[in-house]
Amino acid sequence: LIEAVNAREILDSRGNPTVEVEVLLDDGVVQRAAVPSGASTGAFEAYELRDGDKSRYGGKGVLKAVDAVIDELGPAIEGVDASEQRIIDEILIETDGTENKSRTGANAILGVSLAVAKAAADSADLPLFRYVGGPNAHVLPVPLFNVINGGEHADNGIDMQEFFLAPIGASTFAEALRWGAETYHVLKGELKAAGFATGLGDEGGFAPDLPSNREGLDFLVKAIEKAGFTPGSDIALGLDVAATEFFNDGVYRLDNKDWTAAELTDYYVGLVDAYPIVTIEDALAEDDWDSWKALTDALGAKVQLVGDDLFVTNPERLARGIDLGVANSLLVKVNQIGTLSETLDAVDLAHRSGYTTMFSHRSGETEDTTIADLAVAVNSGQIKSGAPARSERVAKYNQLLRIEEELGDAAEFAGRSAFRRFKG
Ligand code: PGA
Ligand code: ZN
Repeated sequence: LIEAVNAREILDSRGNPTVEVEVLLDDGVVQRAAVPSGASTGAFEAYELRDGDKSRYGGKGVLKAVDAVIDELGPAIEGVDASEQRIIDEILIETDGTENKSRTGANAILGVSLAVAKAAADSADLPLFRYVGGPNAHVLPVPLFNVINGGEHADNGIDMQEFFLAPIGASTFAEALRWGAETYHVLKGELKAAGFATGLGDEGGFAPDLPSNREGLDFLVKAIEKAGFTPGSDIALGLDVAATEFFNDGVYRLDNKDWTAAELTDYYVGLVDAYPIVTIEDALAEDDWDSWKALTDALGAKVQLVGDDLFVTNPERLARGIDLGVANSLLVKVNQIGTLSETLDAVDLAHRSGYTTMFSHRSGETEDTTIADLAVAVNSGQIKSGAPARSERVAKYNQLLRIEEELGDAAEFAGRSAFRRFKG
């Protein structure tokens, strides 16, 4: 039974405050969870409550959310069996009482929801992935390493937000991690040799001032080859365009030019022909549904089209996308929706509808590794947690190493199978 719930304000990887929650059970178990925070957030995400008091952290303090945990959310679940996750999440949602979790804050609610799950797992003496996923949780996800950062995550001129290395040809997660790290270091050397800066963006990738987005893909291909791998079969490429960020009044502004959605779609078709790209996220803006449909018709059989700002891990927005035939993959961010149960509902709906899922960190992260366990729990097959460098990114990858070791012979690395259906 839940005996007490505590919360505090801690710092995230960008040096901004965020919420950490601790749950104490009557058997003595204590577990904590920390909440991440985005920069290129979708308009339809659950509400992140910040104090707005300019005298602390430039208004970004989270003491109101911390108080909401201590004064309201915690007391509302005291005495409840910690393994009753759905009931607890229901209570949290009802205690908040708003549609988008804006009163107590989705950051407060998520912290409690995840800390409860971790405490229940600990109390049952199970690893989190096993507790949430049951006996069939065994698939290690392909890591999508964001090695070039642009958009809102870096102060360079690159419009696209994330350039991924996807080591689909590795035979284990540990091998995929090694391939990614080796290629990351080669990429640094290549950028340096070409006279570009090798400072890092928010997700640990390099943030060079490249003249075009295609140049980013060229550098990835070069680095993969120079590291001794084959682009495509060993290590494939991916993009998170985060197109909402450069969409205004019906116009996309990319590479210093104005594009219609149709022109941008043709551009993506050309990229997929020219590069071994297996996944493109948020290729178009979050409310450009008709253009998304046309893009899916043009490219959906060949490549994974991921909805992030488009779906915001929200079962209702995902259901609309499924009905319309928009995108074919769901990006899963626990803080976009705010409870574990709703996150699992979104994943279930995606998988039942033939959509793939990719678990995701946020650009503002902490040392919390919950998403690594969740990705294995649901056999997602894909996770993005930034570059294979910087501790808040690597913490998730390191946790996946531990899970792979713990699963032993039962572990299966998703590899190419994670993307196979798009190769028709
Ligand atoms: P964010 O970016 O965490 O800044 O929203 C991540 C993403 O767009 O996938
Ligand atoms: Zn995204």
